[in-house]
Amino acid sequence: MSATILIIEDDALMRKSLASFCKKNAFAALLAENGRDGMSLFNQHSVDVVLLDMRLPDATGTELLAQIHKLDAEVAVIMMTAFPDLKSAVETIKNGAFDYVTKPFEVAELLQTIEKALQIRSLKSEVLRLKRTLPRQDFPNILGASAAIEQVRAMISKVGMAADTPVLIMGESGTGKELAANAIHSASERNNKPMVAINCSALPDHLLESELFGYEKGAFTGAAQRKLGLFELANDGTLFLDEISEMQLNMQPKLLRVLEGHPFKRLGGTKDIQVNVRIVAASNKRMDEMAKTGHFRHDLYYRLSTFVIELPPLRHRADDIQLFAEHFVAKSAKHMRKAVASISADALKVLQQYHWPGNVRELRNIIERAVILCDESVLTSEHLPGQLLPASRPPAASAADTDWSLADMEKRHILWVLEQVGGNKSAATRRLGIARSTFDEKLKKYGAS
Ligand SMILES: Nc1ncnc2c1ncn2[C@@H]1O[C@H](COP(=O)(O)OP(=O)(O)OP(=O)(O)O)[C@@H](O)[C@H]1O
Ligand SMILES: [Mg+2]
Repeated sequence: MSATILIIEDDALMRKSLASFCKKNAFAALLAENGRDGMSLFNQHSVDVVLLDMRLPDATGTELLAQIHKLDAEVAVIMMTAFPDLKSAVETIKNGAFDYVTKPFEVAELLQTIEKALQIRSLKSEVLRLKRTLPRQDFPNILGASAAIEQVRAMISKVGMAADTPVLIMGESGTGKELAANAIHSASERNNKPMVAINCSALPDHLLESELFGYEKGAFTGAAQRKLGLFELANDGTLFLDEISEMQLNMQPKLLRVLEGHPFKRLGGTKDIQVNVRIVAASNKRMDEMAKTGHFRHDLYYRLSTFVIELPPLRHRADDIQLFAEHFVAKSAKHMRKAVASISADALKVLQQYHWPGNVRELRNIIERAVILCDESVLTSEHLPGQLLPASRPPAASAADTDWSLADMEKRHILWVLEQVGGNKSAATRRLGIARSTFDEKLKKYGAS
């Protein structure tokens, strides 16, 4: 495909000779004798290079250069200048012109400059094309070589590029949902804008609303001054709604409206506020089931789940346990300045046979504790807590491990750990490596609180 060159030059003779130069070199030429015609041709055609005279009857080259780059920042503009204009031509280079040629110019010199510009343009578009097809990053902080986690990384990199699509991350506690949310933000074009996070379970309903939407001075008792909401703070960036499943039903339509592109008002405010925010939500509950049973609004679930990433539980990627264990040993040893350098085969076997209800977080905590206990260079099964050892395992659940409902096995395990620590809930939480709120919730669910 031949390149298209837009020539903006008021001197008729010069235009003519440039047109024949283009013809000779198999370039398509568009001719304009002033800035206004030049801009209109630029708007109507796909132009590769602009040859722009410094002095035109209706505009200066510098002004036109700025207008052109506003429309297409990548197009190469070559300034044509008479000798006395040289200084301003140099100035335009600083403003983004590709190069300049002085009149009268050598045809060979002009050709060379144009070819260089075309070459750079095609390299730039090649880079762009590659950027789009290749995964943008390989997320070095998301560890794991199992196929399941490879797929998670691929999904993150793909959705990172779809900069507006909401993402729902689902997975059990400790599987890396927050890590994934951060990776999505950094893989997206929004990565130079803020990422703001809020845990929807941590706040009562009315506080969540004022956190998200902000309020005006005097909106309610105690609203001493205007406060911007997280939607405004995250504008052009990402808003991470953690534990979205805990958002109250009456709050959900308000979120949906913003997700659908509607403006909102600060509490007590009258002004419509429009934001551009990508929502990444996370849940350790199966949101599809919640939507089915009416525990979460179906329309909001539908919108949030445009793109779902499911993080696999650790027990389903036993292949990764060694890699995680070694990583956490090295990290903890470095942090604590200890000489622990490796992990024995028997300890590894214990780790691989355990079912990890608290997933990667639990593994990290257990290794950290083991490194503290270990005074040798090799960490062995002696340094692992009793609950991991097969002999002191809770009785095996009769029902199969049903991943998500987890019910039977998880219940037995949690109650068993609680019993082991003499009913001390804080100790049990630490041992399980899960959040206290998660623990309390599970106890409640199993009727044991
Ligand atoms: N693939 C992974 N690679 C490295 N570290 C991981 C990975 N997955 C999880 N982790 C680590 O495990 C810990 C828990 O991860 P994170 O907080 O993202 O889990 P979560 O799914 O948000 O858990 P919760 O539901 O309890 O909030 C963090 O320290 C995190 O860095
Ligand atoms: Mg989390």
